[in-house]
Parts: sequence; structure tokens; C-alpha cells
Amino acid sequence: MDRRSFLKYTAVGAAVASSALAGYEFDRWQNPLVPSVTSAVTKTRTLTETPSCLVSLRSVAETGGLLVGAAVTPQYLEDTRYATTLAREFNFVTTENEMKWWKVHPDPDRWNFAPADTLVKFASDHQMKVKGHTLIWKDERTPEWVKVERSPEEFREIFQEHIKTLVGRYKGKVYAWDVVNEAVDTKEVNGLRRNVFLEKLGEGYIAEAFRLAHEADPDAILLYNDYDAESVDSSAYRRARSDKVYRLVKKLVDDGAPIHGVGLQMHLDAWDHPRPTDIAANVRRLARLGLKVNISEMDIRITEKELVGTLTERLEMQRRIYHDIIATCVKEQGFMAVTFWGFTDAHSWIDEEFGADDPLLFDQGYNPKPAYWGVMDALLGE
Ligand code: XIL
Repeated sequence: MDRRSFLKYTAVGAAVASSALAGYEFDRWQNPLVPSVTSAVTKTRTLTETPSCLVSLRSVAETGGLLVGAAVTPQYLEDTRYATTLAREFNFVTTENEMKWWKVHPDPDRWNFAPADTLVKFASDHQMKVKGHTLIWKDERTPEWVKVERSPEEFREIFQEHIKTLVGRYKGKVYAWDVVNEAVDTKEVNGLRRNVFLEKLGEGYIAEAFRLAHEADPDAILLYNDYDAESVDSSAYRRARSDKVYRLVKKLVDDGAPIHGVGLQMHLDAWDHPRPTDIAANVRRLARLGLKVNISEMDIRITEKELVGTLTERLEMQRRIYHDIIATCVKEQGFMAVTFWGFTDAHSWIDEEFGADDPLLFDQGYNPKPAYWGVMDALLGE
């Protein structure tokens, strides 16, 4: 039996064994040699039991040398269902908000490390890696005190101190950093988003942020992260963005900046999303630069306002998209991780930003959705 079949046999066998104990009836899953992508999903329509502790996304990912992650808000860890699901299923966590400048360093002399510390400790207690998100972002998420009028020299000092202090505090504890987030804006002549960093320091602020982070923790994996830049796409908007991100990171590599990878956010709509093959082509060209690639913030909207079909049909569509994209990416050299922007529909930024939806892998009661099994199948190499 080759490695992949062994893994699948073990994982499915474990699921069958534990679920049998839970008293569920199984049909196709009774025979671990026949499950298919759709069988996992068909099964979950009747199986609302919590997945087995013997097989989980993280156990499958670990066997394939991958990280599977979720963005986390530390205050929810007080909810046992949240904490146990997170620890059981994921081996990677991202601070959803707690390391953003406006949260962690809200005033010149005040740092608010406590919530981030809580998550870093949780991760260490449960053998999970941490991604720090994010050192430098847009003006809307940078506190006012940073943006007041001052000389470029004074500004540079604040910029340097922020990165050195934050990365330095978590040296050896944060595995990877989103160093610069969403710096691209293809509507601008230079293709870069206008912000206080660009205004005060010029285009070199990006490379400088990477150098400062590297000095503060030479072992951390340093990433550039952006949205709508996932694919080599037929949509002019997405193609322009992914090309610009490619050129930006290529220049950083060519100039010798300590960049190690790129994050493709992957906030998707089920009704208009890039094709897996176009995403794979983008992953491949980034990997050819010697960079690691991760899906950094995946969620998939399926609102009935945009899609026809019953909830069951929309959940199936969501499962298929999660599956097809992740199954394609995990086959690419240099692909290191997939992170979801949350994991339960009980807590997602989508509801606040776009209106009620069900974008993640677990429902509001922490039951696995079809999307969960789609991701599981993809990680199993199905
Ligand atoms: C979002 C958080 O999820 C929200 O809670 C917050 O109010 C705003 O930011 N791209 C990113 C993330 O890089 O940092 C954003 O997170 C979602 C879009």
C-alpha cells in the first residue's frame, strides 16, 4: 500500500471506528476502500457528530507536512467548544486582530500584548504554530498617533521601533509573520496603495519592514499578504492584482530582501471565484521565485441573496470550491499552509462586513459542514 492509500485507509478507518462507537449508521464509509469525494459529503448530511479525535484536519495535514490554520480571536477561547475544536483540528493559528498596530500598540507608550499572549500560550500548549498578522497595513487600521504630521526621520524611528518591539517580543514563538498586508492598489500609477508609510518612507518601506523583522527574529518566516491576487485569471481585475503582487515580491527577492513567502487571502464568493488551475499557475510562478506560498484567509460566501438553490445545494457548492482549490494547491511545490479566516460560522468577519452568511467549515453549533469534509478530502489527496 503506498503512503497516500495508507493515510486514507487509516484516517477513514479511524473515523468509521469512532463513529461506530458513537452509534451512527454507516453506509459507504463502512468500507474504507470505497469512499470518494462525494461519499464524505453525503455522509455528513447524516453525520452531525463531532469528528473523531483520532482523525482531524491537523492529523491529516501533519502526515503530509502541511499546516492547516485558522484565524482566532483569543476571547472566544473561553468557550470550551471553540477551544476544543480549534485544538483538535488545527496546527496553526493566526491572530485575527490582536497583533494589528491599532490593537497592539494603540498609543505611543502603550502596548496591549495580553490578548496576543493568550493566543501564543494556547498555541504552545497545543503544539500549534503561530502566524503574526500583521506588522504593516493600511491607514484605516493604523492608529491616529502614527499618522500625525512629523518629519520622515521621526516617522522612521516609530516605524522601526514598532516592528522591532513586536517581532522581538515574540521571537521564537511566532513561526511566521505577515510583514506587509495589502500594499497593492492597481488603480494607482505605481500600483501601490497610498498610505502613511508610502508617503513618509517611499516605496522602500516594504523592503525595510522585511529587513527590520528579519533583524528582530532571523528564524521567522516572513510573508507578504494580499487579497484578490490569487490567480492568473481571465478577470482583468484579478489578473492585474496578481501580476502586481508577483512583480512586487519578485523585486523584493531580486533586491535581496528577506522575504520567504506570499499569502493569498482567498476570501471568495461562490458565485464568482478564480479557477483552481489559474490559482495553481500563480502558486507555481511564485514558487519559482523560491518563495513559499500559503492560502492565508480562506472563506467562501454562499448567501442566498446571490445564489439560487436550497441551503443544502449551496453548502455542496461551497464544499466543492473548498475542495477543488485546496486539492489543487496542496499538489504544488512550495505550498506550505492553508488558513481559514475563522472556523465556525458562529464567528466570522463576513457577517459584519457583508451580511449574514455561512462561510466556514463548522456551523454555528460547531458541527462539521460539507465544507469540512471537502477540505479533509483535499488534504487526503482525494
Ligand atoms: C478583519 C477582521 O476579521 C475583522 O474582525 C476586523 O474588524 C477587520 O479585519 N483582510 C485581512 C484581515 O488581511 O486582517 C481582515 O480581518 C480581513 C481582510
